[in-house]
Amino acid sequence: MRVLFLLCVLYATAAKRNVADKLDRYIVSCRTTDFECFRRQYRELRDNVLMGNDLLNIPTYEPYTFKYGDSGTCIKLMGLEDSELTGYQLDSISKELIWTIQLPFRIQQVMNDTVVCTKPDNALAAEPHTGPLKKFLGNATIQVTYPYRLKKKKGELMMSLQDENLDVILDIPDLSHYNSSSGFERNLYEMSEWAYSVVQHIDAAQHFALPYTSQTRTLMEFIPLNKFILLYPEEEYVDLQFKFVDSQSNSNNKCY
Ligand SMILES: *[C@@H]1O[C@H](CO)[C@@H](O)[C@H](O)[C@H]1NC(C)=O
Ligand SMILES: *[C@@H]1O[C@H](CO)[C@@H](O)[C@H](O)[C@H]1NC(C)=O
Ligand SMILES: *[C@@H]1O[C@H](CO)[C@@H](O)[C@H](O)[C@H]1NC(C)=O
Repeated sequence: MRVLFLLCVLYATAAKRNVADKLDRYIVSCRTTDFECFRRQYRELRDNVLMGNDLLNIPTYEPYTFKYGDSGTCIKLMGLEDSELTGYQLDSISKELIWTIQLPFRIQQVMNDTVVCTKPDNALAAEPHTGPLKKFLGNATIQVTYPYRLKKKKGELMMSLQDENLDVILDIPDLSHYNSSSGFERNLYEMSEWAYSVVQHIDAAQHFALPYTSQTRTLMEFIPLNKFILLYPEEEYVDLQFKFVDSQSNSNNKCY
């Protein structure tokens, strides 16, 4: 019995080591002063881990798609696949890792026979659909705050992430000042009004952002912290304190 148990443990450890070795090639290691490096690190994680990863049993991220009343259509939210890191903060006093990410946010109407749609948080009323399918392009900002704990696992320091706090801003401009006798401007105005009314019915943090941001926790269980952050000789993981903000990423659109 005892031998069997030991074998199992050894096997499990070997399997984990194997996963960590294979994942290594996606992880860009960054010094605490190099924001450009953290942006690359984020992009690699986005494409190879957060959007889905077989080794970690992370399913492919599916866009949030929900039923649009009785229109026979659904609404699809997209854009995380093109998201970029615009802020990064590690605070060992509050023990928080904070990411700010920005993305070109898309709201798209699709026929209900091409996708699986869920029920929205609050039902939308919509007449049976006629005419072209609607589409809105905007920007979104997501701030993810992961409380963390440092812990040793088999001699390696790991960052264990707790449930994250999310702030999601969908930037939908108010175009009511647009010229209503110009067909082009009127269309932009109508699309932004439509987008605004649609997002009132859903919790974008819960259904759009969380399924994506929560994947980071799974990853951090497998990979030691020193693969993500490289220290200078005088630095220690327990008292790291740094912050970057991308100065060009300020939006001048009206938010709500
Ligand atoms: C599509 O919508 C129509 C109208 O609401 C509905 O009758 C039909 O069952 C829907 N089809 C699917 C696959 O959900
Ligand atoms: C989104 O952001 C980009 C880059 O800042 C900007 O050029 C574009 O006009 C924005 N789009 C909308 C719909 O606000
Ligand atoms: C509004 O658009 C129409 C048609 O494009 C144009 O003739 C008119 O001068 C515009 N009005 C203003 C106030 O820009």
